[in-house]
Amino acid sequence: MGKLAPSILAADFAQLGQQCELVTSSGADYLHIDVMDGHFVPNISFGAAVMKSLNRLQTAPYDVHLMIEDPDRYAADFVTDKTEYIVVHQEACRHLHRSIQNIKALGVKAGVAINPATPVAVLEEILRDVDLVLVMSVNPGFGGQKFIDNAYGKIRRLKELREQGAGQYVIEVDGGVTAKNAAALREAGCDLFVAGSEVFRAEDIPAKVRELKALIG
Ligand code: DX5
Ligand code: ZN
Repeated sequence: MGKLAPSILAADFAQLGQQCELVTSSGADYLHIDVMDGHFVPNISFGAAVMKSLNRLQTAPYDVHLMIEDPDRYAADFVTDKTEYIVVHQEACRHLHRSIQNIKALGVKAGVAINPATPVAVLEEILRDVDLVLVMSVNPGFGGQKFIDNAYGKIRRLKELREQGAGQYVIEVDGGVTAKNAAALREAGCDLFVAGSEVFRAEDIPAKVRELKALIG
């Protein structure tokens, strides 16, 4: 069954707590936490303090997407009892193997993300070590962008590699995911679906969560 991770980047920050509880009670499997530093990506979002204040609420576990330089320096800040994944960018890690091991040593699952211009092939030597591979289907930095089609081929390739025994990772897609492409992405082999604007800009947020969950079922 496919899982859904609404990206809180698209939430109304003035009602962040309520909206996180709302998507959770509507069936979201994770909260996708987009951390941007203004260096790796041309935008600044929020840091660990914001995420930690959600800890007091009844929410789904966190899928933390670090779009930052030097993630080794900050990863520990994002470990809470609700953090399931911490995901770093291949393009931001000079020593990716070390970064992945560092995250695992923190007691959470480790993922690697690749930008639209980065091929799956660069992950060949790390696939056996990661719990998750995130395929970016937009250039990271902003919500509400148009889906870039080459994600389909990457998802299919990652599924094929997994079937061949390359690793046991979850395949995640992030950027421009909507009710229009969710079923096709599931068909391609995606396991975990991030959706920001599609969920939080919907007129009826619970109905949108249920719709997406049914499509990726
Ligand atoms: C982009 C972020 C995404 C983004 C997705 O840099 O990593 O998680 O919030 O937003 P939508 O679903 O609106 O493309
Ligand atoms: Zn993200």
